[in-house]
Amino acid sequence: MKIIGFFNNKGGVGKTTLAYHIAWMFRDLGVRVLVADFDPQANLTVAMLDDDRLLALDAEGTDKTKTIYDAIEPILEGSGDVAPLRGEEIDEDLWLIPGDLGLARFEDRLSDAWPRCIDDDRAALRATTALYRTVRVAGDARGVDLALVDVGPNIGAINRSALISCDFIVVPLTADIFSLRGLRNLGPVLRSWREDWGERRERAERLALKFDLPLGAMNPIGYVLHQHAVRSDRPTLAYDRWANRVPRQYAESVLGTKPADASEDLDSDANALAVLKHYRSLMAMAQQARKPVFKLRAADGAIGGHVDAVRKARGDFETLTRRIAQAAGVKL
Ligand SMILES: Nc1ncnc2c1ncn2[C@@H]1O[C@H](COP(=O)(O)OP(=O)(O)OP(=O)(O)O)[C@@H](O)[C@H]1O
Ligand SMILES: [Mg+2]
Repeated sequence: MKIIGFFNNKGGVGKTTLAYHIAWMFRDLGVRVLVADFDPQANLTVAMLDDDRLLALDAEGTDKTKTIYDAIEPILEGSGDVAPLRGEEIDEDLWLIPGDLGLARFEDRLSDAWPRCIDDDRAALRATTALYRTVRVAGDARGVDLALVDVGPNIGAINRSALISCDFIVVPLTADIFSLRGLRNLGPVLRSWREDWGERRERAERLALKFDLPLGAMNPIGYVLHQHAVRSDRPTLAYDRWANRVPRQYAESVLGTKPADASEDLDSDANALAVLKHYRSLMAMAQQARKPVFKLRAADGAIGGHVDAVRKARGDFETLTRRIAQAAGVKL
């Protein structure tokens, strides 16, 4: 099973929307997919489950291990290891590890555990790998080929734990000054997490632990530039100004490429996985219908000019998903 994370510490750049659409597209292309909502804001979970199912997550019952909080609660309470969770079925071959506001309670515990991992502290290693092991257990139970991880917009301990679980990282971004600044943070942060985890993992391997450790590769496979954040009062000129700086900033900050070797051109940049449109009313329609934009039908309101837009959106997401599959070695 390959694990791909969608990450940028800048908020509102389209991480969740992208993870959601890519998950459905992989599924449509014949891949069994698990999506993990590791953002305590749980926006992805709200997008994927209707109100009745959201309520059911909260219901008392025999099968209490439903959300990511339920899975990590024994660690938080000091009563045991992660509780196995199978994930909610969203559709054929598509499952979700539901998010939970309670996950925020794990932040301090994970912060505290990180330095202790270096001291061969088994409980700290269990806590640090809890999110990874939850993905593995649900993924193995469902026999998935791929897991996608969505996280919140920060560089805290929950995200560190969620992202060291990932083999690959896709960076969604928008064309503005803060997104570019975000890239400058992102590269060094990913590098330090990779190195620090590598050191911890190497030590932990000598302990003959009874649980799996993630590799922590976090290989950046490219960025997806979103146009949805273009402000209507500052249209094309501002967009181009920032967009054209993305190839170089990504190459330098995230990949550590020398300035002279970085691409200057968005259209031909090998790291640009896609430039995605502002889907406007189609996105609102899709949220209402609880579907990806490329699955909208007449009954959802996609009539007239929307029909062609939906068809084009399918093409755009399919091309993007095939690129991600190729970069991450996911067989379609
Ligand atoms: N391609 C798009 N076209 C139109 N609207 C979009 C598109 N992508 C995302 N949006 C909208 O932009 C907003 C932010 O997107 P989203 O929630 O996916 O970002 P995020 O990076 O996950 O945010 P956060 O940092 O809060 O987790 C949402 O209202 C979403 O519907
Ligand atoms: Mg989000």
